[in-house]
Formats: sequence, structure tokens, C-alpha cells
Amino acid sequence: MYTHEDLSALQNQSLKLQGWIRQQTFSPELKKTLRRFSSWEVAELIFKVNQSTFRGKLAADPSLPAGEVEPDGRQRWFSLEEINELRRRLKINRKSLMPVRPAGRRAVRAAVANFKGGAGKSTVALHFAHAAALDGYRVLVVDFDPQATLSHSMGLTDVSEEHTVWGIMARDLIRETERMNSGPVGAESGAALPRRHLPDAITDLGLGDLRVADFIKPTSWPTIDAIPSCANAAFVEFASAQYRHLNPDWSFFAAVSRYLDQIPDESYDLIVFDCPPAIGYQSMNAVFAADVLYIPSGPGYWEYDSTTSFIGQLSEALEDLAYGFNGTLPTGKISLPKAFYDVRFLLTRYEPGNDLHRAMLEAFRKVFGDLVADNPVEMTRAVEQSGRFLNSVYEMDYRDMTRETWRRARLTFDNAYDEFRAAVIGAWQKMEAEE
Ligand SMILES: Nc1ncnc2c1ncn2[C@@H]1O[C@H](COP(=O)(O)OP(=O)(O)OP(=O)(O)O)[C@@H](O)[C@H]1O
Ligand SMILES: [Mg+2]
Repeated sequence: MYTHEDLSALQNQSLKLQGWIRQQTFSPELKKTLRRFSSWEVAELIFKVNQSTFRGKLAADPSLPAGEVEPDGRQRWFSLEEINELRRRLKINRKSLMPVRPAGRRAVRAAVANFKGGAGKSTVALHFAHAAALDGYRVLVVDFDPQATLSHSMGLTDVSEEHTVWGIMARDLIRETERMNSGPVGAESGAALPRRHLPDAITDLGLGDLRVADFIKPTSWPTIDAIPSCANAAFVEFASAQYRHLNPDWSFFAAVSRYLDQIPDESYDLIVFDCPPAIGYQSMNAVFAADVLYIPSGPGYWEYDSTTSFIGQLSEALEDLAYGFNGTLPTGKISLPKAFYDVRFLLTRYEPGNDLHRAMLEAFRKVFGDLVADNPVEMTRAVEQSGRFLNSVYEMDYRDMTRETWRRARLTFDNAYDEFRAAVIGAWQKMEAEE
């Protein structure tokens, strides 16, 4: 017979050996670094101008970053910093290369969510973040999933739980409780507001004193930062239930949104959330904070089924918030009832030659109409086999495979990203129209 004590002993044993196992499964040189991009990629795939125009521009101005020549070839290879400098300084046919980004707006927040496990959420979130960074955007990714796939893929493996979404939620509970306690006693209605007391076990963690920037980590991509997760953050689901009990007036679902409100609007252009395969406190925080909701789904019948259940349950959860909190609590830049600027269904691991997949795409279109992304993300062996760290196709060097294989893999993510960018720009326009 095994009790909780045995499980705890097993966990202790596992924790003791964790460092050793980690060393066995990754070598130190697997620390993520970002490769350079060839002048072919920079010109045709990133700036979308022809190579000779690009080379001509470089030749005309020796003060521009010139990249590096690698021993085996004639091409020049540019770092992302150099690409971004070129983007700022070059004009092609008198047109700027800077991406669309209305001034004075906050970053658009996009959640990639579905409660189906393995739907491709982390893969889509990773590729959108990388594609956006190559497109000139400054990106923050937030990993809401204690499986931490996205954090690991971003090279963040040594993460302490107080610096995860759990820390953000506990910090918010402390700050919101203090705010409520220091409010006027006896509200306008005349009813005295109850004083809420948080146990020392929570206040003594010092999370209330953490600054906004303490949660944000740099990644190997110079224009992508991350708020990572880690396995120990898994207890956030239990802890949050307890926190709600301690302060029933705490709008738990708005904790991350309130935190993001404190980041200066001009720091990022885009914030991408990767969600766990569940509807819980973490995914509700992600969904509530999101302007745009992306729902990836595999192309099988069961995945269609569970995507249907997901939107049903999400709808009920959002309805509960709308009535339960009734817009009376401060929720910052996002208000109740929660409304998304855009919702998209995105088929993933799609094989165009597979009859079942084609039938499922048609079925999705019949049911969800225009909300289905035109370009499904195709099944790509390069991504499937990228291994321990879920490398994006953008991180892979095309010289490691045939250029055609890489090009096809990249194209499917590029097409999905183009539609995503249109949704992001649409969200900015809708924000503007609201004023
Ligand atoms: N387009 C694709 N081509 C090939 N393999 C893919 C593709 N998208 C996802 N995969 C593979 O499918 C598996 C699950 O993908 P991923 O981790 O993105 O799903 P998820 O929805 O985030 O899963 P979880 O619910 O566990 O968080 C991974 O091994 C990934 O490499
Ligand atoms: Mg995932």
C-alpha cells in the first residue's frame, strides 16, 4: 500500500537526483543560443525584398551592419540585433521596413489555448513568438503551463516557482487584499467592508515586494523576453482555491492581467500566452488577459470533439465571471464581461494529402466559418523531430536539411503567422475604435 508519505518520499528522492538527471539529458553546450541568418533569409524571407536590392543597399552604406562570412560560403550571416538595426535604418523604395505598430497603444495579448493535450499549443505559441520577433516585433511570452514546454524551448530551465504565474497571482492577492483593507470602512452603501487577513505563510514569502521586472527573464532571442514556468508551479491550482477562500472578493482571474497592466505600454508589441491543457486558475487568467484567443486543434475527430467541449466550458466559466463579479471590481485594462477582439481556430499537424484531415478542415469551416484560420499548420517532420527543446523551424539552420524541406516547413508557419499578425493588427484597430 502506498500513501501520500510514500509519494512524498519518492518525490524527495527524485528531487535529489534531479540535477544529475538533468546533466545526463542535456549537455552544457545545449544552452540555447540563437543562430545567425543568411543574407538570402534576411532579404527574401525577413525583409521580403530581392537579394540584389538588399546587397546593393549594404554596399552603398559601409556604416550598416555587414554580418559575418562563414568559412564554407560566400553568404553573409546576420545576428537578429544586426537585422533589427538594418530594419531601423534601411528604406526600400522609400518605404520603411518597420512593422505596423500604432504609437501609444499597449501590446496586444494573445492566448493560445485548448484543453486538449498535445493539440500543438506550445508549438504554435513558440512559432508565433519567433515569427513575430523576425518580423521586427518585441515579444513577451508568458508560460502558464507548469509542464514548462515553452520555457524549456526558450532555454529557461532553472526557474524558481515564485517567479512564475503562481508568484504573480500570490503577489496580486497580497496587494489586492491590502488595497481592499485600506479602503474606506463603510462603503457608500453604508455597509462595512470586511477586513481580510492573510496568513503569515503567504505574506512572509515576500512576494508582495517583488517588482514587475523580477518576473521577466531574457531569452536567447534578443527581442523576446519570457515569464517562464516550472514543474513546482503545478500547485498553483490548489493554492488558488485556498487564496479565494481567504479573500472571496479577490478577482483571482484578473491577477495576471493587472500585473501586465503595470508593464509600460511601449515595452512590448505582442504578449503571447501558452496555456496548460486544462481550464483552471492559470488558463482563466490567460484567457481573461487575452485580446485575441487562438485555439489550436489537431485534425482528428476526437480533437474536434474536445475543442467543442473546450469552448462550451470556457463560455460557462466566462459567464460565471460576468455575473459573479458584475463589473464592480477593478480589473484594469480589461473589463467584464470579457470580450475578445478576435477568436481563431487553427488546425495543426495537418496533412494535405490525408482525406480525413481534409474532411475535418471542411467540418471545422462548416461549423466555425470565418473563425477558422485559412492556413492550417501542416505536419512537419523537422518540428516533430526537433527533440528535447522543441526548436522552432526559424531556429533550425536550413543547411542541416534540404533547403526545400526547410522552406516548406517554414512556409506553413509563415502562412499561419501572417493570419495571426492580421488578427493582432485588427485588435489594435478595434482598441482604437473603442475610444
Ligand atoms: N506542425 C507540427 N508538425 C509536427 N509535429 C508537431 C507539430 N505541432 C506539434 N507537433 C508535435 O506534437 C507534440 C505536441 O505538441 P505541443 O507540445 O505543441 O502540444 P501542446 O498542445 O502544447 O501539448 P500540451 O497540452 O501537453 O501542452 C510535440 O511533440 C510537437 O513536436
Ligand atoms: Mg504545451
